[in-house]
Amino acid sequence: MIKIAPSILSANFAKLGEEVKEVEAAGADLIHIDVMDGHFVPNITMGPIVVEALRPVTNLPLDVHLMIENPDQYIEAFAKAGADWISVHVEACPHLHRTIQLIRSFGVKPGVVLNPHTPIEMIQHVLEDVDFVLLMTVNPGFGGQKFIENVVPKIEALSNLIKEKGLNVEIEVDGGITKETIVPCAKAGATIFVAGSAIYNKEDRKAALQAIKTSGEA
Ligand code: DX5
Ligand code: ZN
Repeated sequence: MIKIAPSILSANFAKLGEEVKEVEAAGADLIHIDVMDGHFVPNITMGPIVVEALRPVTNLPLDVHLMIENPDQYIEAFAKAGADWISVHVEACPHLHRTIQLIRSFGVKPGVVLNPHTPIEMIQHVLEDVDFVLLMTVNPGFGGQKFIENVVPKIEALSNLIKEKGLNVEIEVDGGITKETIVPCAKAGATIFVAGSAIYNKEDRKAALQAIKTSGEA
């Protein structure tokens, strides 16, 4: 089963609620919220206040991707604002196990994120503790970048590791996902796909979302 998580980073922020409702009606499975702090990544986006505003607007789970330094300081605020899933970058977490436990302590599903160059060995000892792993297929910071193909073998290696360990951990991919690039990622074992510009930059969002999903399921 393929899940599509539209990233509101490419939505029209002047009418964010409607933008979220539109992709929900179009068949989205999650709403992906990109949080950037201008330190961990060279861009600034949104905080818990936006999650809180969107919570009553949709029934879909809110998938909050924290691209911030010192995420432990903000996890409670995002959880209370209504995040259902929270993922943190291993590159920003010196005490990753503790951070994962902190996310879970608020009843939120924890995930860990790897930048394109970060090896899966970095998370092999916390795989049992997470619900999902997010593999970046672009360098985090901006929407609309080109998919990095070299990540595909990493998806496959992680998928094999999860199977070997007999775990129920899903693989999410984020960055440059289109109806073309979803194909090798789905084959390699990813099941959750973030798509920002490939949905929100299209006139017909429903057709765009459905085309990506159909292509991933083929
Ligand atoms: C990048 C973000 C992505 C971004 C994806 O830092 O984590 O979620 O919105 O955008 P597209 O799909 O346009 O690459
Ligand atoms: Zn993201």
